Amino acid sequence: MKKTNWLNEFDIKDLALEQETAKTDYDVFEDKNLLDDFRNRIIQELIDNKIVNSDNVSRYINEEINRITDGYDLSGQERNYLFNLIENEINGYGPITELLEDSNVTEIMINSPNEIYIEVDGVLSRDNSVSFINNDHIIRTVQRIIQPLGRTIDSANPMVDSRLPDGSRINAIIPPLSVKGPVVTIRKFKNDMDNIDALIGNGTLTPYMARFLDASVNARLNILVCGGTGSGKTTLLNVLSNFIGNEERIITIEDAVELRLNQEHVISLETKSVNYDQAGEVTIRDLVRNSLRMRPDRIIVGEVRGKEAFDMLQAMNTGHDGSITTLHANGCNDALNRLETMILMGEIELPIKAIRGYIESAIDLVISIERLSDGKRKITSISEIVGFDGDSIELKEIFGFIKHGMTENREVNGEFVFHEYVPRVYHKIKSRGIDTVDDLFEGIIQKEEKKNKKTKSQK
Ligand SMILES: Nc1ncnc2c1ncn2[C@@H]1O[C@H](COP(=O)(O)OP(=O)(O)O)[C@@H](O)[C@H]1O
Ligand SMILES: [Mg+2]
Repeated sequence: MKKTNWLNEFDIKDLALEQETAKTDYDVFEDKNLLDDFRNRIIQELIDNKIVNSDNVSRYINEEINRITDGYDLSGQERNYLFNLIENEINGYGPITELLEDSNVTEIMINSPNEIYIEVDGVLSRDNSVSFINNDHIIRTVQRIIQPLGRTIDSANPMVDSRLPDGSRINAIIPPLSVKGPVVTIRKFKNDMDNIDALIGNGTLTPYMARFLDASVNARLNILVCGGTGSGKTTLLNVLSNFIGNEERIITIEDAVELRLNQEHVISLETKSVNYDQAGEVTIRDLVRNSLRMRPDRIIVGEVRGKEAFDMLQAMNTGHDGSITTLHANGCNDALNRLETMILMGEIELPIKAIRGYIESAIDLVISIERLSDGKRKITSISEIVGFDGDSIELKEIFGFIKHGMTENREVNGEFVFHEYVPRVYHKIKSRGIDTVDDLFEGIIQKEEKKNKKTKSQK
């Protein structure tokens, strides 16, 4: 870019269009590395001199740009690019400011200063338009983000998990815990997925399944939602929790508050991790135990990961039915196995059979949600626990999803299925006076009765 004016090569009309439509299309720059180098030097200057007076930031930035790029012929567009980067450094969240603002970006992952991944439409890709100067620059940016939340990150607190005011969640881990350097994961909060219609609309489940889940929550079934990371467990938990009636006293327990319930009577509890030596720590388990003394109608636990699993089951088994939680697992069977392992690791002196019996009597429904290879989320199974034969817990699927393969444009080809039988939980639903799913099961009951009559009369 030295002493050339590349702008002349463009049709002026094209350029106007370019500026209007593609603010992140940096391919038009002749030497983005050089621009980034300018940026780095200005930012370093800023840090070294600590001279940002908010009244004349613009003037200051312009002066700095002039000084640093002296001898280079910058186009207006290149100048703007630099200006924005530096302004974001002062008034925003550094290099990731625009990614944070862009509602199409649902996740931002910083692996190293020059390795940043983003998720758009459920698909992960590397973003080369953004970079940090060095590891310190990443840590400084994180510190800026979490400072207003009263959190701090440094070698004494090398791990932070926190929620931003807009509901997004940030996780940062730095040396010595992260070997290579700081790693930051930001999951943006998208409130367009906070209602069942949105999930039906994008094909996560069918209206029948939605109606069944609504009835199940209202019938106070104990529900376990399982899936992998980012599969949509918390989103689904939020939607399910919003089926709960307005008159109930709901207590939510989470590591970092993500749930947003619309009911009036909601009490949100959040764990406390003070230091990584765990002094003064308040765990999910502590909160579950405490919540039992708070006269809850419902206990919603964001995610069970450990010892709290037993307390949660105990709550479900001692009259606190209608509880809902999530668990990291690949499928319904795996979820039950993991639950078992969590209880075993909690040093509960119970034989394995007793633990399984405990699980069987506590949980009614297990829902599995998946992020398919095309990025779409699907509820791939709604199963009920139908029994325990003294050895293993038996699950039976009510709704499922069958994958047939891939379409030409690499989308997963599949269909939802409803297994025609009358589930055990239907009787629970009926006994609570809920008749909103009668059309699904009454027909099957009548068919079965007819068949039974026929075989009787044949005998
Ligand atoms: N059913 C869905 N359809 C589309 N996007 C979804 C769905 N559920 C969740 N998401 C998006 O996926 C991301 C992860 O969702 P989240 O519920 O936090 O997953 P998990 O709790 O399983 O890690 C969020 O950005 C969210 O907006
Ligand atoms: Mg979650």
